Order: sequence, then structure tokens, then C-alpha cells
Amino acid sequence: VTPLTVRLGPRSYAVLIGAGAAGDTGLECARLGLGRRVAVVTQRPVGAHAGRVVDGLRAAGFSPVVIEVPDGETAKSLDVARAVWDAFLHHGLDRGSVVVAVGGGVVGDLAGFAAATFMRGIALVQVPTTLLAQVDASIGGKVAVNHPSAKNLIGAFHQPRLVIVDPATLGTLPEREYRSGLAEVVKTGAALNADLFASLERNVSALDGRDPALLERVIATCCAEKATIVEQDEREESGLRMVLNYGHTVGHALEALGGYETWRHGEAVSIGIAAAARLSARLGLIDARTVERQVTLLEALGLPTRFGKPEPAAVMEVLRRDKKARDGRVPFVLLKALGRAEVCFDVPPELVREVLDEVHAGPMPAAGP
Ligand SMILES: NC(=O)c1ccc[n+]([C@@H]2O[C@H](COP(=O)([O-])OP(=O)(O)OC[C@H]3O[C@@H](n4cnc5c(N)ncnc54)[C@H](O)[C@@H]3O)[C@@H](O)[C@H]2O)c1
Ligand SMILES: [Zn+2]
Repeated sequence: VTPLTVRLGPRSYAVLIGAGAAGDTGLECARLGLGRRVAVVTQRPVGAHAGRVVDGLRAAGFSPVVIEVPDGETAKSLDVARAVWDAFLHHGLDRGSVVVAVGGGVVGDLAGFAAATFMRGIALVQVPTTLLAQVDASIGGKVAVNHPSAKNLIGAFHQPRLVIVDPATLGTLPEREYRSGLAEVVKTGAALNADLFASLERNVSALDGRDPALLERVIATCCAEKATIVEQDEREESGLRMVLNYGHTVGHALEALGGYETWRHGEAVSIGIAAAARLSARLGLIDARTVERQVTLLEALGLPTRFGKPEPAAVMEVLRRDKKARDGRVPFVLLKALGRAEVCFDVPPELVREVLDEVHAGPMPAAGP
């Protein structure tokens, strides 16, 4: 097990990374002295992994109940949160009780939101089971549900007491979800850690094969990078945390235009990385070779780097309306070099448009991958 600590003073917590670690959730909760009543929030496709967590909790003297929520992004709603609160009450959870989220980012965000708000906040343990959640969503304390008008609009910062990352759970993850998670891994390398990026380039076939030892190292590196950023900017106040959004400006726009159905988040981010890299080059920050390395790696990992639909003009329109936009300009995360990202608030819209035209695949028969 690779242990890691997210240092946030009294809100510090461990991130334990290792094959089989999910089964130790009970032991680790006991070590932290958490309350006996535990609600395990999960989704059907993750049932087997949740079962192992529940067994471990029982063996360690806890009394767990399982709350299964519907699958898919629509579970991140106030209606489902209400059902989860109802279940907490029904099962007698109190201020000393614990919520354990076993699943992808959807379960983590929803269960985390329910934990953050129930009785003004009860203990939360994250057991992420998608690659995306293991390298990104489970660390940092952002929890939320969606509002019909925008994703993640209703939420809170609620740091977990513990994060247990078990790469063995990825064995059952559908291919497309796995590759989507790899996009966030590439993002972490490109934006924060050039050594990680180079090791991804060297290990494409091992990544394809979900090599357990490699995955554990890669995940641990990503978690460490995210932890370092979160430690310095817990509530996204200094702007530092924004560098985690490399590839996300265009990515979010594409996701929204596709109604969150055309692309998985990581696929949209992959195209967004291709755009942000090109933008960085046009601004003279990186050379063409550095752009090419990113595009080549993403494509080698089976990720899209171009889009057919929508039209670039529609993407521009979404960017202009972005909440973070000033004078029609959205902040972009750009690269100064591989592994060194910075936020830039004054990218000329004409340049963004040129890059979108480049990344736009032209008259492709269908959108998406
Ligand atoms: N809080 C944050 O900081 C943060 C960061 C990034 C993303 N997010 C959120 O994360 C969500 C996306 O998360 P996601 O990509 O993990 O998707 P997801 O949670 O919807 O999981 C994808 C699918 O895989 C299934 N699944 C999960 N683990 C599995 C496993 N081991 N085996 C088989 N099936 C499994 C799920 O049931 C689901 O059907 C979005 O709502 C996004 O807003 C949050
Ligand atoms: Zn992301």
C-alpha cells in the first residue's frame, strides 16, 4: 500500500493506495475511531466491490447498511440526495455516523454532498472505483449535485476522513470508462509532472493492459500531484487549483453541447487538451513537438483529439457565456512547458477560434468517438 497524506491541518487525511485495499476499509475506519453506524452508498455495477467493503466493515465491528442509488450522472440530483437523506434517517444515522462512497465520481459527489449536508456534516470515506475518481474526484473535498441549469451548481467543500484507492477494482471497469480516466492521467502529466508524462509515453501497451503494478504507481503519482495542489488551495481561492483544469475549458463546452451524452468527461477533456496545447504553441509558450507528443499519446491511448460536431462557432458561443468569462474571454490553462501549466486570462478569442477550426475534424459523419 502506498500511503499518502493530504495535509490540511485539522482536516488532514490519508489516501491509501494498493490492490485489495478496499477490503481494509473497515480496519482503517476503526483505526480512525469512526462511529459504528455506516451507510455504504453505491451503484449496481459496483455491487461486488461494495460487498467487499461491507464485509470488511462488519469484520471490523461496524454495522453497515447499503444504499444503492440509480446509475448514471442523473443520480447527482437533489431528488436522489433527498432519498439518500431519507435512508440515513431510516437507518438511524446520527452525527457520529459515517458515509462510505463506493463507486465512480457520481457516487462520490452525491454521497459526499449528502454527508456534507446531513446534520451539518458527518464523516465521509471515499472508496473510488473508476480511474477518474481514483486520480481526481475522490481527493479534494468538492462534493455536489447538478442543477437543471448547470452541473455541480449545488455543492460544498467537505473533505473526506479517508480515501481508499484499490486499483484492483478497475478490473471490472468498462473500456470506455477506463480510457476516459486515462485522459485525466495524461492531463496530470502534461500540466504538472513531465516525468509522469514521459513514463506514460513509454508504457502505452502496459496501460492498455491495465498492468496492476504500473497502474498503482501512476495513480499514486496523480494522487500526490492533486494532493499538493489541494493543500495549497483547498477552496479554489488563489486560482492555483485551476491548473487541474488543463484541457477542461474546451472540454466542458463540448460536454455541455453534447448534452453530457455524446462524450464521457475524459473524452471531451482529451479533445480539450489537444486544443489547449495548440493554443499554448500559438502563443509561443511551447513548440510544435510538445503539442505533437500530447496528441500522439492521447491517440495511442484510444482517446479522441478532434471533434466532428458541433461547429466551432457553437463552441465559441458557449465559451463566451462561461461564468468565468470576462469581456468574452474565458480563462485558459496553458502550458509553459510539459509539466508546467499556468492560468491565462487574456487569450484572444480569434486565436481560440483558429485552434477550434484546427481541432474540428470537418464534415465527419457522426459526432463523438
Ligand atoms: N469532485 C470532484 O472533484 C470531481 C472531479 C472530477 C469529476 N467529478 C464528477 O465525477 C463524475 C464522473 O465520474 P466517473 O467518470 O467516475 O463516472 P461514474 O461515476 O458515472 O462511473 C461511470 C460508470 O462506471 C460504473 N462503475 C464505476 N466503477 C466501476 C467498476 N469498478 N466496475 C464496473 N463499473 C464501474 C458506474 O456505475 C457508472 O455506470 C461527474 O459527475 C463529475 O462531475 C468530480
Ligand atoms: Zn476532469
